[in-house]
Amino acid sequence: MKAIIFDLDGVICHTDEYHYLAWKNMADGLGVYFDREINNRLRGVSRMASLEIVLEKYNGQLSAAEKEALATQKNELYKESLKNMSPSDLSEEVKTTLDTLRSRGYKLAIGSSSKNAPFILQQLGLGSYFDAISDGNNITHSKPDPEVFVKAAQMLCIPCEECLVVEDAVSGAQAGHAGGMQVACVGDASQAGAGDFNMKSFAELLEIAK
Ligand code: BG6
Ligand code: MG
Repeated sequence: MKAIIFDLDGVICHTDEYHYLAWKNMADGLGVYFDREINNRLRGVSRMASLEIVLEKYNGQLSAAEKEALATQKNELYKESLKNMSPSDLSEEVKTTLDTLRSRGYKLAIGSSSKNAPFILQQLGLGSYFDAISDGNNITHSKPDPEVFVKAAQMLCIPCEECLVVEDAVSGAQAGHAGGMQVACVGDASQAGAGDFNMKSFAELLEIAK
C-alpha cells in the first residue's frame, strides 16, 4: 500500500451532521418526512441525487428549476454552518493519525463527492495538506461509482491496487471496491461491515497501514 484516499464528510470531520441538519430544515419546510435513517442513505451521494432521495416521500411534482432551488436552499444553509468551522474542528486523533501516516511515507489524498470540499479543508487548516484532492468539482459520477477515487489515484500517479480508501458511507466503500482498492471503514459503513477493515476508531488506521 502506497497511498491512502480519505473521504471527507464523516471521516476527516463531522460535516455529516451539518448535512443532516440542513436537509432536515429543507424537508421540514416542504412538509416532507426526514430522519437520520434516510440521512444515512445520503452519505457519499451527490447533492442532486441526495435531493431525489429526500423527495421520495414528497407527494407532488416539482420542475427541474424548483429542484435546483431546493438544492440551493439546502446548500446555503449548509454553507452557513461551514463558516463557523475552524482548525479546532479537526480532532487531535485525526491530525495525529494523518501526520503519523505521512511520516511513514504514505501519500495522502481526499476523495469526496462534495463540491464544498476545498472550502471545508481550508476552514480546517488543511488547505494545502493533502497530496491530491479529488472532489465533487472534478467528477461526473457519484459514489458508488469509483470515479472520484480513481481520479485521486491518477493525481497521485499510484495504481488503484496500491491505494487504501477510508470511508464512512456504504456507497463510498462500494466505490472503493469498484475501483479495485482496499477499504477501511468508520461509522455507519463500519457498522454495516462494508469494508475490508471495519474500524472502531480513526486511529486504528495505524494498525492497518504500518
Ligand atoms: C458527500 C456527503 O461527501 O458530499 C453527501 O457524504 C453530500 O452527504 C455530498 O450530499 C455532496 O456534498 P455538497 O457539499 O457538494 O452538497
Ligand atoms: Mg462521508
